[in-house]
Amino acid sequence: MKPLQEVRSGIIVIICIFIFFKVKRNKRPTNLSTISAEVDDNDAITEESPQFDLDIIRAATGNFSEANKLGQGGFGPVFRGKLPNGTEIAVKRLSQNSGQGEYEFKNEARLLSRLQHRNLVKLLGYCLEGIERLLVYEFVPNASLEKFIFDPLKRVLLDWDTRYKIITGIARGLLYLHEDSRLRIIHRDLKASNILLDMDMNAKVSDFGTARLFEIDQTQADTSQIMGTYGYMAPEYVLRGHYSLKSDVFSFGVLVLEIVSGRRNLEPRSGQDMELLIGHVWKNWREGNISGIVDPAVTSGYTPNILRCIHIGLLCVQQNEATRPSMSSVVLMLNSQSVTLSVPTEPAFLMNMSPINNSDISSGYDSTSNATKADPSGNKADAFSINEASITDPYPR
Ligand SMILES: *[C@@H]1O[C@H](CO)[C@@H](O)[C@H](O)[C@H]1NC(C)=O
Ligand SMILES: *[C@@H]1O[C@H](CO)[C@@H](O)[C@H](O)[C@H]1NC(C)=O
Ligand SMILES: *[C@@H]1O[C@H](CO)[C@@H](O)[C@H](O)[C@H]1NC(C)=O
Ligand SMILES: *[C@@H]1O[C@H](CO)[C@@H](O)[C@H](O)[C@H]1NC(C)=O
Ligand SMILES: *[C@@H]1O[C@H](CO)[C@@H](O)[C@H](O)[C@H]1NC(C)=O
Repeated sequence: MKPLQEVRSGIIVIICIFIFFKVKRNKRPTNLSTISAEVDDNDAITEESPQFDLDIIRAATGNFSEANKLGQGGFGPVFRGKLPNGTEIAVKRLSQNSGQGEYEFKNEARLLSRLQHRNLVKLLGYCLEGIERLLVYEFVPNASLEKFIFDPLKRVLLDWDTRYKIITGIARGLLYLHEDSRLRIIHRDLKASNILLDMDMNAKVSDFGTARLFEIDQTQADTSQIMGTYGYMAPEYVLRGHYSLKSDVFSFGVLVLEIVSGRRNLEPRSGQDMELLIGHVWKNWREGNISGIVDPAVTSGYTPNILRCIHIGLLCVQQNEATRPSMSSVVLMLNSQSVTLSVPTEPAFLMNMSPINNSDISSGYDSTSNATKADPSGNKADAFSINEASITDPYPR
């Protein structure tokens, strides 16, 4: 009898300990408000974002296995995974000892948890356990626009209708960020690799912490310092650190022209002869040479629709930010053929404005040409990023 009693009380003690720890564990920060407080005291992140259990994420990603690694983002690796209910996810894992990354992580979590739009990548939740900092997103199967539009083989898969759908999708996502969500958000790093494509090739704008999601071929370790990408940045932003909704509009215009032409604005491979795509488009547009602009892979002929997109693209990259349209006018212009478009003025030719030899930006060029040499694919748009640590307040209202 006595030994059995001992066993019983032993079991009870164990159960008590178990319950104690279980309760304690559930009491761990169940939302991100604690860490977000450091970023912005008034913003609680969590209203809409559920917390995921670390064990579930471990199981979903094969314990963060190398095989499930999608790429390296700005503040850490990104893994693919599958939840028990079958939902596919992408998990961004903050690297330990990543100082700037911590800030970006919070920024991304804080912003994205309050946003919901079909043209924005969706944050499903997050996980904070021990030292782990994880963001869980819907998985977007067709990688990024960059993987299609600049790829000699895959670009052929993007017919004009698909490209047009992508352009309108980005425009709607950006309009939502700028005007239609509860917040006013300037993305500041809009570029082809930040436009993800879902299974139906709908565009989803991603990367809200100036950190990067699906950048599979990103090799530089210090990208957490970088907040913009050369070739997409508006002149006033590069030269004066001034940014506004209109600097996003500029980046959007660059994207539109890239989508139409299948060329990068800033072609890493072209070496000395670095003609910007927007300069090329401007020249050919004025000469009425549309075949000099449109991607030869687009075989549907030069429809009014294509011409209109080139026109809108040129309006967005105008030198003077005041003359660039807002995203709501862009969406209107895309939706309605009857809206007349103004005549674009000369775009910003950044090449002329920033002498390559004597600015901070020049170091970006130097390291890039090395990086480009090291990678024959030349797939290094990020190398053209510049460090803009001097720009402080990241999200003005
Ligand atoms: C979660 O956030 C809310 C505010 O949004 C706060 O009132 C609550 O105390 C937080 N919960 C925990 C466990 O930190
Ligand atoms: C997961 O990986 C970590 C280190 O990579 C290891 O310590 C841990 O035991 C693994 N967990 C499981 C459940 O395999
Ligand atoms: C699966 O679980 C996730 C996270 O809890 C949820 O967002 C999603 O809607 C679920 N999917 C299905 C098909 O139930
Ligand atoms: C996009 O992804 C879906 C699902 O994985 C696939 O069926 C489709 O062929 C892909 N589209 C392109 C253009 O690769
Ligand atoms: C149009 O542009 C293309 C590419 O720049 C060029 O090869 C072609 O000669 C131009 N056509 C005319 C009529 O200028």
